Amino acid sequence: MTSISIKSDDDIKGMRIAGRLGAEVLDYITPFIKPGVTTGELDRLCHEYMVNVQGTIPAPLNYCPPGYTPYPKAICTSLNDVVCHGIPGDKVIKNGDVINLDITVIKDGYHGDNSRMFFVGEPSILARRLSEITYECMWLGISKIKPGAHLGDIGHVIQQHAENAGYSVVREFCGHGIGKVFHEEPQVLHYGRPGTLEELKAGMIFTVEPMINAGRRDIREMGDGWTIKTKDRSLSAQWEHTVLVTDTGYEVLTVSAGTPPPPAFVLAASGPAAAVATAA
Ligand code: MF3
Ligand code: CO
Ligand code: CO
Repeated sequence: MTSISIKSDDDIKGMRIAGRLGAEVLDYITPFIKPGVTTGELDRLCHEYMVNVQGTIPAPLNYCPPGYTPYPKAICTSLNDVVCHGIPGDKVIKNGDVINLDITVIKDGYHGDNSRMFFVGEPSILARRLSEITYECMWLGISKIKPGAHLGDIGHVIQQHAENAGYSVVREFCGHGIGKVFHEEPQVLHYGRPGTLEELKAGMIFTVEPMINAGRRDIREMGDGWTIKTKDRSLSAQWEHTVLVTDTGYEVLTVSAGTPPPPAFVLAASGPAAAVATAA
């Protein structure tokens, strides 16, 4: 039996702040993601912004789960066929690349974890569609969140949408509970069956962060001990939000002025009041 923590009101207040700050790092870095920049430069800019402007701590830096070496950078930059945990370095990004930036900040002990996809110049039709489907997968999963729903409901809609589009869901990495700890229970699988796994309760906080491959779901780990690529070298996409289970549904915590709007199906389902709240 697992135990998923229920956050206190103070925890939720802290997580709202951390979530907003995590999203604001993505807003800040967006204009710098252009042909010619290195992933290392994006890391340096984000790191400086977090420490010197926000007064936040980059959670990845020196993060060292069991079996890993300490993560050497402040952010993850996952380019093209990199599924996740791409380590920033000398790599120059070029026109047509597609890249995920995954940012986790710590503020007053609380973690805000989120990622977005970015196109460098003009993306291929495949890259655009993969990113869009993955974004819809994340939001379909989020839109299932309410007390009484099950974790399997989230995984199911994500898997169904990805596979209907002809894509595959990475199994080895998942969403996770988050708070004062970066990765805690539960594991939020991005595949599964409705009505299975843990029942959601108000006050739980976890991420939804599907990794979707254009080709097969198989992955391989690079020699740096962190970088994960698709085995067949197909493109991979990921989007991530940190989400609170509320009494009536959900609240996305990683929200900033530049957060992309939810897909139309989310706004329509949640009604005019929610649409206004999301837009505000
Ligand atoms: N931010 C990633 C996640 O969504 C975790 C990155 S761990 C790191 O869970 F050490 F690679 F940064
Ligand atoms: Co993340
Ligand atoms: Co995460």
